[in-house]
Amino acid sequence: MRGIILSGGSATRLRPCTKVTSKQLLPVYNRPMIYYPLNTLIKAGIKEILIIVAPERAGDYLNLLGSGKEFGVRFTYEIQDKPTGIAEAFLIGENFIDDEDVTLILGDNIFEDDLSEDIKSFKKGARVFAKKVSDPERFGVVKFDENMKAEKIVEKPKEWMSDYAVTGLYVYDNRVVQISKDLKPSDRGELEITDINKVYLEMGELDVAMVNGEWIDAGTFDSLLRAQNLAKEKLQDKLVI
Ligand code: TTP
Repeated sequence: MRGIILSGGSATRLRPCTKVTSKQLLPVYNRPMIYYPLNTLIKAGIKEILIIVAPERAGDYLNLLGSGKEFGVRFTYEIQDKPTGIAEAFLIGENFIDDEDVTLILGDNIFEDDLSEDIKSFKKGARVFAKKVSDPERFGVVKFDENMKAEKIVEKPKEWMSDYAVTGLYVYDNRVVQISKDLKPSDRGELEITDINKVYLEMGELDVAMVNGEWIDAGTFDSLLRAQNLAKEKLQDKLVI
């Protein structure tokens, strides 16, 4: 299993704090934000990790994280020239992924749960992680049938469909690279991760695991503040780096 942290983006919602630095390098209590998704991957035993960053911030990431030796893993770095979609991670990462399975996590996603077993037990298809939220319209949303089997998945639905957001942690088999190559940009001009999930859903190979603990997408000032408190109150003794 290879790991990718997608840590580019423009972070417009955190301006001016992100005018001269990357969102995922801002402090979340006593660590840079990216340490939290890194913990998720490292705890799952993933040793080869690709960090995808925006061109203007690449030096900062190298200075902060280095080779990975310090953490017992190996980091590879790639640039995303423009933030044209989460699914682009698999095109940028094609050579890195090689013929392995891959776990992608967004650099601003913080999980209270230890999801190691869900990642380690992955065999085939796709596994995503859902969480009930009060503002599903901000996310990719998954609807379940009466047996809690995923039925439909929609990116930022305009009309309410379900309260379950698809979080920023995704596990795929190697077919994800080819699936990404076949994607067309959405109306907002992005290669959508939701479109990848739809392909696996249509093949009957999308497995949706539930997130029980807190999950925070730390992309707004309010969620960043919540992340700070979660990190201080609940995460300190769970971190390995
Ligand atoms: P978003 O929060 O949707 O976008 P953003 O970080 O650019 O912020 P804003 O909406 O405030 O301008 O992105 C979610 C995560 O995915 C975040 O960690 C950045 C990352 N990302 C990329 O690295 N490249 C991309 O092309 C996209 C769409 C997101």
